[in-house]
Amino acid sequence: MLDIRELYSSLQTVKILQNIKMNEIIEKNDQAEMPRHIAIIMDGNGRWAEKSGKIRVKGHEAGARTVDRIVTLCVEIGVEVLTLYAFSSENWQRPALEVSALMGLLRHYLKRETKRLIEQGIRLHAIGRLDRLDAKVRRELAEACQKTAAGKKMTLNLAISYGGRDEICDAVSALCRKVQAGELDCDVIDDEMLTAHLGTAGLPDPDIMIRTGGEYRISNFLLWQLAYTELYFSDTLWPDFAKEEFLQIIDNFQRRERRFGRVLQLPDSKLNPEPGSNHE
Ligand code: FPP
Repeated sequence: MLDIRELYSSLQTVKILQNIKMNEIIEKNDQAEMPRHIAIIMDGNGRWAEKSGKIRVKGHEAGARTVDRIVTLCVEIGVEVLTLYAFSSENWQRPALEVSALMGLLRHYLKRETKRLIEQGIRLHAIGRLDRLDAKVRRELAEACQKTAAGKKMTLNLAISYGGRDEICDAVSALCRKVQAGELDCDVIDDEMLTAHLGTAGLPDPDIMIRTGGEYRISNFLLWQLAYTELYFSDTLWPDFAKEEFLQIIDNFQRRERRFGRVLQLPDSKLNPEPGSNHE
């Protein structure tokens, strides 16, 4: 028979070992360059629920608990911006019951978390076609954004009713209106100007984009902003996504070489080998 004291003590040992590992990773992360902006496609809630014989909404509820864990961790380790894909423009096509459950979860989150966001120094921001949201949700979201506006530690950017193509079209329309009004010359429109007309204006581009749930797609997420972002795809379903895996992804990011289309700086001896030397 299983001795409960033995089981308890081995569980404690596992916990202690996990904590040591986590602390090691956090310490290592402290020394290396922290990503400024992390963007996440939180996929796999539905499958998580189905796997354990629950309705899909239960998966979204469990997903909201993962949101809490990851937001807290991001503030702790000094991430400046965390963008979460909470509801895509395509998600409106889901069954009405699921849409309304997701909206309910969002409202619940705002109600439950606004105070904690203020305490943690987190500014809430939202991108997407927010005019499609129910007036009540829109008002509560605007209120939460306004109440947390002074947060300096991190921006939590929620993509809601969001589509990357919509966002680019909206930016182009805004620029066209300025051209029509005679305020802008077509020839001066460049990368920087379009960037300044996106929902993410003022935020740095993501350094890391993580998608959980085992699919290898971008799914209309931050299409413009992900141009030079490092991509990570995890098989873990979002409700199971743990702090440790997240920190491991950051650790992996810190080992990647980001060239932004340039070549690495080579030592002069490699660029201009002396005549007769063996340099390639
Ligand atoms: C994708 O999983 C997830 C969503 C469409 C919604 C994400 C929402 C949450 C994590 C909870 C609420 C968020 C906040 C910020 C409070 P899926 O349903 O497509 O999963 P599947 O691919 O397994 O079906």
